[in-house]
Amino acid sequence: MTEPVLVVEGLNVGFPSKAGVVQAVSDVSFELHAGEVLAVVGESGSGKSVTALTLMRLHAKSTRISGRAVFEGRDLLTLSDRDMRSVRGNDIAMIFQDPMTALNPVFSVGSQIIEAIRTHRDVSKQAARARAIELLDLVGVPEPRRRVDQFPHEYSGGMRQRAMIAMAIANEPKVLIADEPTTALDVTVQAQVMEVLRDVQEATGSAMLLITHDLGLVAGTADRVQVMYASRLVETGGVDDIFYGSRNPYTRALLDSIPDLVSDTDRLVPIPGNPPSLLNPPSGCPFRPRCSLASDTCAVSVPDLMTVGEGHATRCHHADRLVTEGAL
Ligand SMILES: Nc1ncnc2c1ncn2[C@@H]1O[C@H](COP(=O)(O)OP(=O)(O)OP(=O)(O)O)[C@@H](O)[C@H]1O
Ligand code: SF4
Ligand SMILES: [Mg+2]
Repeated sequence: MTEPVLVVEGLNVGFPSKAGVVQAVSDVSFELHAGEVLAVVGESGSGKSVTALTLMRLHAKSTRISGRAVFEGRDLLTLSDRDMRSVRGNDIAMIFQDPMTALNPVFSVGSQIIEAIRTHRDVSKQAARARAIELLDLVGVPEPRRRVDQFPHEYSGGMRQRAMIAMAIANEPKVLIADEPTTALDVTVQAQVMEVLRDVQEATGSAMLLITHDLGLVAGTADRVQVMYASRLVETGGVDDIFYGSRNPYTRALLDSIPDLVSDTDRLVPIPGNPPSLLNPPSGCPFRPRCSLASDTCAVSVPDLMTVGEGHATRCHHADRLVTEGAL
């Protein structure tokens, strides 16, 4: 595998509140390699977006952060605001679920892409405009020469998402972070936008951290998968390790909750119970109240992330009981 472009070590993120600290991310470590798509999956509230926003340093000042996130030899978490501004949108760019988070309604789409380019590159307005048109064309916006001057509200949802992708890749970032990039779109448009995203990621050779609820999307797009539960990484591995050889009860429950596309029943089995509070987490393994394999040991300590194969690790005291598929 290539050298990692981003190395995250022991990331902890907490939000102080009157009732105590909401620990949204606990001891998260991972590497992202050039050209790979690393998916992050997990139920709502597991800490996926907070992880991404912290890497982009888009968090409130009061947030408590520890750990390291090393990009090209520099720790993003301790960079000055000024240095971080030169990294954000240039070396590392983010695609959000809602394009209006990134697009300003009062400026034309083209002027925003031009601005994104000229913030980081010393090029003329004409050259940046030509590049903006090229980028809109690349992401499949029809008639880019005309549409470059239109405003975001003149674009459909899918087209806005494409425009945001164009803006995100304008400076050929080494790392693209996409947080639920297609969730707000209808199913056919989702597939088209995902294809665009994958094509541009391949064409630019950037690494992508793809945060998604959609395990179907993961199977078709990602190289590796990280599963988050209650602020921690609970399993990480190649797509096949996760889909066919998971060694974690939570991952298996998550896989069971995918609608069964093969049968016509659209079976969807939500995981019974709820994730624990991040304010006062229970002792031991946070999945214990929902886990059919839970034992007394699970009530005592949080399992460590343990290597169970090449590039495959899991947090579970009883991972050895999950060697064969369907042991649950
Ligand atoms: N600014 C904040 N202040 C306090 N708590 C926060 C803040 N932002 C997020 N949280 C909490 O941190 C936890 C993790 O949130 P996060 O947004 O990362 O979840 P997620 O995995 O992205 O979920 P979803 O799939 O719904 O997007 C949640 O419990 C959330 O309520
Ligand atoms: S550590 Fe115990 S409770 Fe947690 S997932 Fe494994 S078996 Fe279940
Ligand atoms: Mg989120």
